[in-house]
Amino acid sequence: MHISQAPEFGGRHWAGGLVLTALIGVIVGCSSEPAKFEPNRIAMHKAEITLGITLDPKYQVEPIAKILSDSFGTPDEPIVPEVEDIDQVFDLEHLKMAAGPYGSEEDGTPRGLYRQHCVHCHGITGNGRGPTAAFLNPYPRDFRMGKYKWKSTKTGTPPTHDDLRRVISDGVPGTAMPSFKLLPAEEIEALTQYVKYLSLRGELERNLLLEFSDLDCSVVKPADQRTKEEQEYVASLSPEEIQEETDDLNSAVEELTDPEVVNEDFLAPLVEGWAYAFEDVTEVPEKPESELKESLAVGRDLFFNKGGCATCHGQSALGDGQTAENFYDDWTEEYYDPKDPSQLEGFLALGALPPRKLDPRNLRLGNFRGGRRPVDVYWRIRNGIEGAKMPAAQQLSEEEIWHVVDYVRRGLPYDSLSQPPEHEQENVRVRN
Ligand code: HEC
Ligand code: HEC
Repeated sequence: MHISQAPEFGGRHWAGGLVLTALIGVIVGCSSEPAKFEPNRIAMHKAEITLGITLDPKYQVEPIAKILSDSFGTPDEPIVPEVEDIDQVFDLEHLKMAAGPYGSEEDGTPRGLYRQHCVHCHGITGNGRGPTAAFLNPYPRDFRMGKYKWKSTKTGTPPTHDDLRRVISDGVPGTAMPSFKLLPAEEIEALTQYVKYLSLRGELERNLLLEFSDLDCSVVKPADQRTKEEQEYVASLSPEEIQEETDDLNSAVEELTDPEVVNEDFLAPLVEGWAYAFEDVTEVPEKPESELKESLAVGRDLFFNKGGCATCHGQSALGDGQTAENFYDDWTEEYYDPKDPSQLEGFLALGALPPRKLDPRNLRLGNFRGGRRPVDVYWRIRNGIEGAKMPAAQQLSEEEIWHVVDYVRRGLPYDSLSQPPEHEQENVRVRN
């Protein structure tokens, strides 16, 4: 039972909630267990399927859990791993404000902000699977891949601190992600750092999993868990060879779990990406001077032709293009292949959310999830949307992108629906 950690109990001033919770605890005779981070079972199962193995608990699963708790602590007691530049990513003071059960210190310093505001959607581990998640579309973000959509940096690089802070402050309009603008700046700062903490932890977990799942554990497995090949292989070894392999395996695990190796080989490169994300911000050139009317006409032509936008967004820009029939985002594609749905059941049993189709946006609504400032829309088109299939428009020059920005922001919502460009008439779908 997690009664005393339930985030549902409202504001900090509601001391009655605590008394009540304590009473319930006494009545039903349960003490609340400390919150735990969940292992990434989806990624583990995926590795097992891909490699045709069963992960060995002692050699492949437990060491990862140990490294993670040594480096990052627990949801109640966060740790800042000792890696160069980590102070550019987060610090213990702020992590403590966001972590732990919800409440406050005697001096009023808040605690448990993440559990108060975010956990019911994003989950304790940041896996995007809080209790509310299943009802939402799009689903809340799983922070553990380290991938973000609404950012100023190129695909493949983490968002900047400002990107994350803006998303948390402004929310993501048109989705369930609320705005937290009314929180004091310090609290938004703490939450921003905590999102990075959960991301970094999740990315380390994935990278370790790649490494550990590569270890050949056939010699140490109980015989009934070996695959046929493993059985044959082990049968072909002499007792000395088995001993030798076991020793090798032990020293491989020992090396991989050595804190110095973890920090330098695994954590340092990840931390560097987060600490220096600001260097990867896509520069935005000055908007060329032009009459709006002309810019809209050029932008419109680029949208339907050279830009290739209509292939997904559709001839009417309602988000119904031909390419987008079977679209799922990267978070879903990890466990769902629409061409081979046979594995889905196994992932759902491990807690994966039922796949939701990813729709190219209906651009007629003029809703910009990543922000509606010209610069936001410029970044979107220049860099694409990470994890969500929208590609970077590499074929367009900087100037051309500005025209498309104009068209998307100020032309499209008012453009006539019934008159797609003449040269495209033959591709128009029949509408009722
Ligand atoms: C009611 C549910 C809900 C709550 C509460 C919520 N979020 Fe979200 N959050 C979402 C959804 C849904 C998305 C996905 C939006 C999308 O895909 O565009 C999201 C996305 C995000 C993103 C990713 C944005 C990006 O660029 O990809 C971050 C970061 C984030 N939330 C942080 C937080 C933090 C921090 C809190 C608490 C202060 C919080 N969220 C509370 C639903 C929620
Ligand atoms: C391969 C498919 C694809 C192509 C090509 C494509 N998009 Fe998108 N686009 C998407 C998807 C999918 C989304 C919704 C992503 C989401 O909300 O997670 C989207 C969202 C958008 C958004 C909304 C951004 C926001 O902040 O909410 C804009 C604007 C946009 N696209 C413009 C364009 C333009 C302009 C082009 C051509 C240069 C283009 N797209 C090409 C798939 C595509």
